[in-house]
Amino acid sequence: MDHFHYRDGELFAEDVPLARVAVEVGTPTYVYSAATLRMHLHKIQKAFAPLRARVCFAVKCCSNIAVLRTLVREGAGLDVVSGGEIHRARLAGADPSSVVFAGVGKTDAEIREALAWSRDATAGVADGPEPAHGVIFNIESEPEYMAIAAIARAMGVRARAALRVNPGVKAGGHDYISTGAAENKFGVSPAHARAMLARFGNDPHLRLSGVHVHIGSSILDTAPYVETVRRTLEIIDQAKNDGVVIDTLDLGGGFGADYQTGDAPAAAEYARVITPLLQERADKGLRIILEPGRAIAANAGVLLTRVLFVKVEGAKKFVVCDAGMHTLIRPSLYDAFHFIWPASVSPQHEPVRRAERPDLPGLEVCDVVGPVCESGDFLAKERALPAVARGDLLTVYSAGAYGAAMSSRYNSHPLPAEVMVDGANFEVIRRRETYDDLVAMER
Ligand code: LLP
Repeated sequence: MDHFHYRDGELFAEDVPLARVAVEVGTPTYVYSAATLRMHLHKIQKAFAPLRARVCFAVKCCSNIAVLRTLVREGAGLDVVSGGEIHRARLAGADPSSVVFAGVGKTDAEIREALAWSRDATAGVADGPEPAHGVIFNIESEPEYMAIAAIARAMGVRARAALRVNPGVKAGGHDYISTGAAENKFGVSPAHARAMLARFGNDPHLRLSGVHVHIGSSILDTAPYVETVRRTLEIIDQAKNDGVVIDTLDLGGGFGADYQTGDAPAAAEYARVITPLLQERADKGLRIILEPGRAIAANAGVLLTRVLFVKVEGAKKFVVCDAGMHTLIRPSLYDAFHFIWPASVSPQHEPVRRAERPDLPGLEVCDVVGPVCESGDFLAKERALPAVARGDLLTVYSAGAYGAAMSSRYNSHPLPAEVMVDGANFEVIRRRETYDDLVAMER
């Protein structure tokens, strides 16, 4: 379980009542539990410890620097995809040698930023024949390889790189977040990978000595990983035949989170099928990297929102909240399920299961919607809830991943506040935007 639980009908994050956070910070507000973040990270680190895998948290899913700092302190590396995320990684105190830089469209400026960070942070650290330090570039295409190599040459630095291969494995929750099938824009085909590795695998300047895959997100089944690892190992073996030693295998992210029970992912389940395939190679020095995001952050965060109005029209009941698609876009964009429940309930309504239709007495079916002027603006449809009234506080669960990180100012709503709970304390880790913040960049 995570660290969000009811005590006498009041929802707590660790030892902090969420009603108190809402009164002090306002709504909508994202609230994270530091203990849950740490617990989920530790579970994955522990499950993959026999492979000495490095767990690089996918910054894109929850990029607040206080969240990153919490994880970096526990030994997490970071997976970044933009100059902005590199900036956050630096502020969070990450070591560039524990950072992978992915993304299908890196600009020259972003490439320079990553190279300069590696150079500055590792100045004076002896590399040996090839760079053992600095950011690993996860490269998505041949033109990108050429661009990074040219920039590194011009800067007089050497860099580390892994080639993203599209293994042709379809997996993941929704078409928009499935990346491993051949028609997706990510990576290169296995045949193209073989040619690129043979050509650039021993390049003295930008040695392409790693293989990277990421097959999708919300993968609740272990089989696609087995298939992916098998296909990846074939590529590594082919490279060896071509005279290239692959020293890094980055398996990407995608481990699912349980949006119903709030349970941590069964990291051990993924490890159980992946480890036997890689143990021998890891023992011989193959470096394994993982890039989980959702599995760490999703159930470590909730969104607090206030009920503005309860509106009844014919047979339809709408609970209109101050959070909507601008605060949490996942229900609108992916039809994603997020459990929603009042933060304060009578004891008979303490939820035992985070389901669409919990088996409890006296529930009413409603749509939970936001204030945005679009019919697509909803947090839940046809959802059974205890009776709620204007002013009540609702909690949207499992909102820690791709929640705040994907929020927008649509309809000129200032971005929400973010709060970190740690034990009996909480801290505002992003203040709510003001109207002045909204227009600060305009003239
Ligand atoms: N590595 C790479 C290269 C990725 O593209 C992603 C996610 C991850 C790691 C982390 O995946 P995770 O472990 O979180 O599944 N906005 C969508 C999810 C998009 C995922 C994008 N890539 C959602 O809200 O479900």
